[in-house]
Amino acid sequence: MNRGAERERYVFLETFGCQMNDNDSERILGHLATMNYRATDDPEGADLILLNTCSIREKAEHKVYSALGRYRGVKRKKPHTIIGVGGCVGQQQGERLLKRLDYLDIVFGTATIHRLPELIRSVDRERGQREATELTTALAPDEFAITPFRDSSYKAFVTIMRGCDNFCTYCIVPYVRGREVSRSAGSIVDEVEGLAASGVREITLIGQNVNSYGNDGGDTSFPALVKKVCRVEGVERVRFTTSHPKDLSVELIDLIAGEEKICNHLHLPVQSGSDKVLKGMGRGYRRSEYLHKISLLKELSPDISLTTDIIVGFPGEGESDFNDTVTLLKAVEYDNIFSFKYSPRPMTKAASYEEQIDEDVKSARLQTVQKLQSGITLAKNRRLVGESLYVLVEGKAKSGGALFTGRTSCNRVVNFPGDEEWAGTTVKVTVQEGFLNSLKGVVKGVNLC
Ligand code: 5AD
Ligand code: SF4
Repeated sequence: MNRGAERERYVFLETFGCQMNDNDSERILGHLATMNYRATDDPEGADLILLNTCSIREKAEHKVYSALGRYRGVKRKKPHTIIGVGGCVGQQQGERLLKRLDYLDIVFGTATIHRLPELIRSVDRERGQREATELTTALAPDEFAITPFRDSSYKAFVTIMRGCDNFCTYCIVPYVRGREVSRSAGSIVDEVEGLAASGVREITLIGQNVNSYGNDGGDTSFPALVKKVCRVEGVERVRFTTSHPKDLSVELIDLIAGEEKICNHLHLPVQSGSDKVLKGMGRGYRRSEYLHKISLLKELSPDISLTTDIIVGFPGEGESDFNDTVTLLKAVEYDNIFSFKYSPRPMTKAASYEEQIDEDVKSARLQTVQKLQSGITLAKNRRLVGESLYVLVEGKAKSGGALFTGRTSCNRVVNFPGDEEWAGTTVKVTVQEGFLNSLKGVVKGVNLC
């Protein structure tokens, strides 16, 4: 259908959760643009309200229900507003959600985004509830065919696969995103070439476990894919996330060290420092194996910035297991961590484990790791004072004023006095101050890289 063939309407889209969901939302907006929908920040002025949801922890799922409560009020005032829920909660709940919430019009899943136009048109023709939550084992031909509607002109997420086959015992992802399916290397490189031609300089390849890209068939391994992406003219920086420690190969560690365009940062979720807990989680590696890979990374890329995910209070986590996590954090000295209290999820194995940990113990442990890490992060950021780092300029800083903002190769946010014309270029910033979540600096040279 030609863009413009339908009357202009407005969509309010709220996104919860991870970078996969962010990119899915960009694809949602891409599909809606073909129906002449434009994005709005105002739910009350929208013809269509969509929630792209996350169910990784119970708290994330609750957020969705309270948001839905708010939008119910909008529908009462404007009954013609169409309300839809997609993403992981949509996938998980399917028809149950429609039964439970009679004001919902559409529930879609994580692999049916491309069906949204058809669902909306169907509701337009005849009101009533619609559901599309099938999780096919192969990608649908048009699942990635749309041009995502991206916010930034200089950096872009590119989804290279969907799903996960690991079934870590705490994790709902394999159930709501299905088995691993890789996109073809050709379609990924085509997308990257298009982005580079339109001025995008930084590409982040995303998937639940990018290291197992291609294991489901195809002739391109993940390192080979990264090399292809690095060779695209115009691409200056390449990132990828998330890497699973058990699948992180020496070949990839070598590539990170040897390929200049690959950013100097790796997110490598460890989850716990205790072998007993790692085994219960089904992570497929021991503490010593993980630490060995970290040593190799640091040896080959001495300045590499490392981040991780930590879960505290996994069933059966005793004081000494928790202490193993604390000592691991001290040993690795991550640049930053994302830490969570274990949250039992439907369908997962660990939800039925005995020895669930009390909520107050989980909270105390979370506080301990966060306090420890804040100290490490702040110290590392302060250690950068006086260094000059290359920053891809994104635009004005959110804090307002005259400051501009961008990220270093090591993924730190840097704010500095700048110029509108620098947006999209790489500048060299000398760090003057290090804070917990950002650096402040001054530009000494423009277009130096
Ligand atoms: N409880 C707490 N944290 C979880 N994560 C995944 N599932 C759960 C859960 N049930 C965390 C892991 C993962 C990150 C994206 O979310 O640390 O790496
Ligand atoms: Fe979840 Fe484990 Fe897959 Fe990550 S690797 S998405 S934690 S099942």
